[in-house]
Amino acid sequence: MIRVCFVCLGNICRSPTALGVMRSLVRDAGLDRALELDSAGTGGWHAGEPPDRRAQAAARGRGVALESRARQFIRRDFDRFDYVIAMDRENHAELVKLAASAAERDKIHLLRAFEAGGGELDVPDPYYGGERGFADVFDICDRACRGLLDHLRAAHALESS
Ligand code: 4NP
Repeated sequence: MIRVCFVCLGNICRSPTALGVMRSLVRDAGLDRALELDSAGTGGWHAGEPPDRRAQAAARGRGVALESRARQFIRRDFDRFDYVIAMDRENHAELVKLAASAAERDKIHLLRAFEAGGGELDVPDPYYGGERGFADVFDICDRACRGLLDHLRAAHALESS
């Protein structure tokens, strides 16, 4: 079982979107039993909350349900997860600060590093913007999660069940 945690700032917009997209891709690929997925935020202000309504609406429009509850990423999560996937460079830097060893730091990656043909590194924070930002976040997560799934399949020889 490979364990993956998506991490943004508040855990109510970007990482729940990436989680919902990835769950849907993993289900379609028949890899539910090979991959365990979760999300968290570097900040804890929204702990216990469902995803932002605008993120839910953007995802629902594309056939993806967002069902997570916000929680803060804690140091022990580095024990639980093999891949800690940051939504932007700021989240990445916070996670690097929290990591206690080189082995833990090696688990941290930027989501957009897996986007085919990408060049941008950050999933832009949509929280203070309009609906359009949430649609863009969904599209970015969709492209990057497809790349991430391809990477995981190749790196771990994952097989459908
Ligand atoms: P997220 O977006 O990191 O994609 O969940 C945000 C959510 C809340 C806040 C900032 C970003 N906030 O400042 O409360």
